[in-house]
Amino acid sequence: MERNGYRIIFLGPPGAGKGTQAEKLSRYLGIKKISTGDILREAVHNGTDLGKKAKEYMEKGELVPDDIMIGLIEEAIGSERNFILDGFPRTLKQAESLDDMLSRKNLYITHVLLMNVPDEEIITRISKRRICPKCQTVYNLVYNPPKNDEVCDRCGEKLVQRKDDSEEVVKNRLRVYKESTQPLVGFYEVRGLVKVIEGSGTPEEVFKRITEAL
Ligand code: AP5
Repeated sequence: MERNGYRIIFLGPPGAGKGTQAEKLSRYLGIKKISTGDILREAVHNGTDLGKKAKEYMEKGELVPDDIMIGLIEEAIGSERNFILDGFPRTLKQAESLDDMLSRKNLYITHVLLMNVPDEEIITRISKRRICPKCQTVYNLVYNPPKNDEVCDRCGEKLVQRKDDSEEVVKNRLRVYKESTQPLVGFYEVRGLVKVIEGSGTPEEVFKRITEAL
């Protein structure tokens, strides 16, 4: 078993800041970030077979079926030995498949960062979120606005609101999180891998907590 390295999972409800912090940590550690939500949104945007299959689940705030997601993550990890997972695993079956996949390569998960943010704050954050449909950069009109009115700082594309960020769909995503994904906390806690990260405060304050926890 490879003892060193970083194979990190971000867990937490929608809007908890997983994507924001995973991006920062990826740059800080110089390792790949794999965000299943970003991969799926790009596939939907490009109208690929994967995108066509995933679209209706995503728009309702439901999970995309496990068999699709397990194949996708295996391909995304490829030969990487260090990585950050944002949005995977989300079900017990996905977590068990990830373990099998890693143990075949003599690898194991090193840290699970559980982002803790109250539901009311999540709803406020998500309602003001905008994303770049081209490069996937995430903004917030209140906490992290773009420099120019609703266009991407990086590529100049007009920012959009995610289809699954309507209040009704966000409530369903929170329900799905509590039902299907929260049980993973216990799955990783018995191995002593879980670090709870207080997700309130500025993104920089949250990031400091993460680097201290690691
Ligand atoms: P995914 O994209 O993974 O969505 P999610 O888990 O619901 O998480 P979010 O992207 O909504 O939030 P986040 O925690 O990354 O927060 P962010 O950093 O953006 O999945 C989308 C869909 O894809 C799923 O519903 C499902 O259908 C499908 N899917 C994906 N993976 C799957 C899987 N494994 N299995 C099955 N289906 C899957 O921050 C939120 C906002 O707050 C932003 O505007 C940000 O700028 C702002 N913000 C961040 N940090 C702070 C802070 N500290 N203070 C103030 N504002 C902040």
